[in-house]
Amino acid sequence: MTAKSENMATNGVSNGVKNGGAKIEGIENVQETDSGAYLANYRAHKKGISHEEMVKAYSDWANNYDVDLCPGRYNGPEIAGDALADHFPADQRSSVKILDVAAGTGRVGHELHKRGFKLIDALEPSPGMLEVLSGRNIYQEKFETPIGYDAVEAIPPNSYDALVIAGGMGEGHIPVQAVDEMIRVVKPGGIVVIVMREEYLSYVQEYVDKLEPYMDDLEAKSQWKRLSRYIVPEYSFNKNGVVFKYEVINSNGA
Ligand SMILES: C[S@@+](CC[C@H](N)C(=O)[O-])C[C@H]1O[C@@H](n2cnc3c(N)ncnc32)[C@H](O)[C@@H]1O
Repeated sequence: MTAKSENMATNGVSNGVKNGGAKIEGIENVQETDSGAYLANYRAHKKGISHEEMVKAYSDWANNYDVDLCPGRYNGPEIAGDALADHFPADQRSSVKILDVAAGTGRVGHELHKRGFKLIDALEPSPGMLEVLSGRNIYQEKFETPIGYDAVEAIPPNSYDALVIAGGMGEGHIPVQAVDEMIRVVKPGGIVVIVMREEYLSYVQEYVDKLEPYMDDLEAKSQWKRLSRYIVPEYSFNKNGVVFKYEVINSNGA
């Protein structure tokens, strides 16, 4: 735990309620040793956080992010790496073009690289996170922008064989509407993999009764086809994750 996180842990949390009365969603069953890191993460996920506040929270946190969300405490990058490796045979991986959305400090790229993927671009709105990512020397192109607001004009339609998101879904993070853009930039026959905390489907208002119905609607419209939806234990803070895997059928804007 970093000094910054430790200071936050001493603020006092009881039954999911911080001093001052604001509820901290999801903290109830988090182990004491993880509570500082949970609070550090929560600074970027506070209920009602704006996009701008979220971007700044990540830039402020960037140099401590990998320590606070170390493997074991947060396993999204490994889960995402395995999901792509399950789909693409080892002898094809070096030519698979991937967009890592919400790339953060580049942990997903690191896991993909270990599994034999080499052509990886990053999309990430937080300059502080991108700076750490750049130091890894894994990614090719880097797009400093969010997904889900304006179309990312720098990325033409049908650009990627795979798009992956780990940890990019959450309060004030990637909006439901971003799914359209995901489909636009992936080639027909390519895949979209989204790894996220399962409980966000039940309390992040942007997603409750909206994210999965929207995904289903796009499937009904033959924009994409669900390949799998599975629950993974120990995604982060000993909580379950959910992995969505879709094959793109029809790229918008092509
Ligand atoms: C928990 S971090 C995950 C980073 C990395 N994928 C990982 O697994 O370590 C969430 C990241 O999502 C990014 N993010 C939030 N909203 C986004 C959006 N609309 N488009 C793209 N990235 C976004 C944040 O800036 C942050 O870097």
